[in-house]
Amino acid sequence: MPLSLPLRPALLALALTTPFAAMAASPTPPAAGPSVQDISVIAGTCANCHGPNGQSTGGIPTLRGVGERHLLLRLQAFKAGTAADATVMTRLMKGYDDAQIQALAEWFSKEAP
Ligand code: HEC
Repeated sequence: MPLSLPLRPALLALALTTPFAAMAASPTPPAAGPSVQDISVIAGTCANCHGPNGQSTGGIPTLRGVGERHLLLRLQAFKAGTAADATVMTRLMKGYDDAQIQALAEWFSKEAP
């Protein structure tokens, strides 16, 4: 069924403007990977459970200063759904891409900023 006439210009306008609006909203090109600023924002969300700066205050493991390789392997396993002990982390890591996961592992392996 063809689209009704009044709808067409609206769809055309949406198709024309959406990609440009999306480009304007993203300050860095996607291929460049997450910036340090982006990672500090993302990493800030981990503090809710893993403690301030990833230094645990309770039963959830500390992230700060743990080896980058260990963190990376764990995060990748959560994302892949292969970590048998996982509760929330499997769901959380599905929201991050490979570059962000790599950057998070690197970020927490270093000393607190
Ligand atoms: C809602 C609470 C919560 C949030 C938010 C959270 N985590 Fe976790 N994290 C956990 C729990 C609980 C575990 C233990 C494994 C499990 O039950 O999923 C864990 C385990 C881990 C482990 C494995 C540690 C180890 O040595 O085995 C890593 C790495 C990790 N989280 C990284 C992160 C990162 C990076 C973020 C932020 C992007 C984050 N977590 C956000 C609760 C959380």
